[in-house]
Amino acid sequence: MTKQSETMKNPFKFGKEVSGYQFYDRQEVTHSLIRKLRDGSTNIVLFAPRRYGKTSLILKVLEQLSSRDDIRGLCFDMTRIPTLERFCEEYANAIHAMFGGRKELVHKLMDYLAHLHPTFSITGEVKLDYGAKMSATSIAEVLDLPEKLSRDLGDKPIVVAFDEFQEVAELSKEFPLEKIFRSCIQSHKNVRYVFLGSKTHLMKRMFGDATRPFYNSALPMPLRKPPEAESLEFLISRFRDAGMALSTELAQEILSTSENIPYYLQAIASLTFERTTDENRTEVLPSDVAIAVEDFLGINAELYDERLTGLSDAKRSLVEALAREPIAKFDEAYRQRHRLPVTSTLHTALGELVDIDLIDRTPECIRLADPLFARYIRSKITTVFTAE
Ligand SMILES: Nc1ncnc2c1ncn2[C@@H]1O[C@H](COP(=O)(O)OP(=O)(O)O)[C@@H](O)[C@H]1O
Ligand SMILES: [Mg+2]
Repeated sequence: MTKQSETMKNPFKFGKEVSGYQFYDRQEVTHSLIRKLRDGSTNIVLFAPRRYGKTSLILKVLEQLSSRDDIRGLCFDMTRIPTLERFCEEYANAIHAMFGGRKELVHKLMDYLAHLHPTFSITGEVKLDYGAKMSATSIAEVLDLPEKLSRDLGDKPIVVAFDEFQEVAELSKEFPLEKIFRSCIQSHKNVRYVFLGSKTHLMKRMFGDATRPFYNSALPMPLRKPPEAESLEFLISRFRDAGMALSTELAQEILSTSENIPYYLQAIASLTFERTTDENRTEVLPSDVAIAVEDFLGINAELYDERLTGLSDAKRSLVEALAREPIAKFDEAYRQRHRLPVTSTLHTALGELVDIDLIDRTPECIRLADPLFARYIRSKITTVFTAE
């Protein structure tokens, strides 16, 4: 007998951006983004915690703009960029690639990036010479590249999305990068910008603080979790299409374990699917979901332990408290119940944990950003051994 696992393809995917069959919901925000970027009425800042689906969404939007409206687009990930020099080189290359990496553009690039003395490899890659020192002018030359090239090539609008844009603040101590970015970008007529960011508080400060260069320069669009009904339908229908029955109760269980965050939802669904196919069954059982969750915690145990051991005592006790009991606002009773440090220490710890994305703080609730990390902590705390 052939094992089902050999014949059925897992419909779920996590860890990389998703598209097509693995992508659900987001119709409204997709249309709204497409409309705004097509009109070019405004730049946009799209923010949500990690793993809500920002990158997947923007890639879908860029794909549609390019195939239906002939608008070129680029999604540039700032997390991959360690230095300002690398930014300049990689961004210049990305822009060149967006225009097809055409040979006839080489002399234009030489001209437009004059202060960085570009050379080109045989494969057409731009190399910049940093012997000539970086300056605000050379940075501006790089940033102005999309505007200049798009004008040269027939005035068609283009879209540049900066993913994890808050990282720009880390890129240079020497140059006021935010200011340079802002002044270049605001002069661009032909390029529409989307700024994506997972560190929502940093993004809000960057775009909402009147003393910062990007203040009020883009329309804020928060990306929320998908509606629960859509998540349930996604789970049940993808299992069904693969010939497998997932009950509403178990779909609900996956949804609540993952707190309806797309990444965790897909991860638990994927491991549940694997487990059920390995068992050669066509109906998902409660134990399959339970084992999938255990598997996920097992895969991530090392990472979770490292996260915990890297924390100071104050931060660790706060993380453990929130794993057990998310809360809207700390009060004295909460502090005592969880043996937390004095209020000032607590708030410093909270601020720092929000900054490194471990804690998600909204006006309604302070909780761990990763619901499975919270579960891991709870499972560790409650492991008890009794004598036989
Ligand atoms: N629209 C969606 N439909 C289904 N799964 C999604 C969707 N958006 C995100 N995901 C899941 O979440 C994971 C993280 O998505 P990603 O776009 O990288 O999020 P972000 O950029 O916000 O961190 C993906 O690997 C996928 O498993
Ligand atoms: Mg992303």
